Amino acid sequence: MRIYREKDYEAMSRRAAQIIAAEIVHNPACLLGLATGSTPEGAYRYLVDWYKQGLLSFKNVRSVNLDEYVGLAPDHDQSYRYFMQSNLFGHVDINPANTRVPDGLTLDAKAFCDEYDAFIRAQGYVDLQLLGIGRNGHIGFNEPGGFFVKETHVVDLTESTIDANARFFASRDDVPKQAISMGMGAIMGAKKVLLCASGEEKADAICGSVLGSISPSCPASILQLHPDVIVVVDEAAFSKLAAAGFQA
Ligand code: F6R
Repeated sequence: MRIYREKDYEAMSRRAAQIIAAEIVHNPACLLGLATGSTPEGAYRYLVDWYKQGLLSFKNVRSVNLDEYVGLAPDHDQSYRYFMQSNLFGHVDINPANTRVPDGLTLDAKAFCDEYDAFIRAQGYVDLQLLGIGRNGHIGFNEPGGFFVKETHVVDLTESTIDANARFFASRDDVPKQAISMGMGAIMGAKKVLLCASGEEKADAICGSVLGSISPSCPASILQLHPDVIVVVDEAAFSKLAAAGFQA
């Protein structure tokens, strides 16, 4: 695990964008695993800027997203498909046919999830998987629990996640209670993982993931078993690691 300790959100975003851009330059037809939420917004902004400056092309890039809320249509302004369109896909030259986000409206979730995993496996897994992290240590929507779930699956969101995501909705009641999430099989199958976190509220989750025991009670701790993980955090998210004497 390589850890980049950056000054603030902006520096974290720039570093993450550099790592994603390097992957695209190195492998123009790479399969990127993408995340949504506040954490990657800044990195996507840098990537869009670099595309507009002619420094980067997404022409042959392919992508699969980690998750989507159950029940939200792609054009719902809180759906993750909508997020990807507004923060990245809509501003770069990626071929829309090469982008995948789980279908929150699927009528056959089991078949959909199986197909999603089959697609990722058939591509030889993701080249670079971008991850944010929940305050409870979730990655994708793999919530803390008694075991790690391998397959893409429908998950009941925890109260902590619903609370955290209520800020995006008119009221807490409007937050969907379920999501479709990639499982740990697809995440751990990625050739490289880029985990980003910003802010003090992520400090415990980051510390637990890096230094804690590997346990489904802190889902991101499974990344300790992955051979190629880059963690990019700002000072606030690093603070509990610093307090534990961890050097980066
Ligand atoms: C989003 C995702 C989630 C978020 C996590 C952190 O696609 O998979 O795991 O990365 O909930 O969200 P933010 O970045 O909004 O703090």
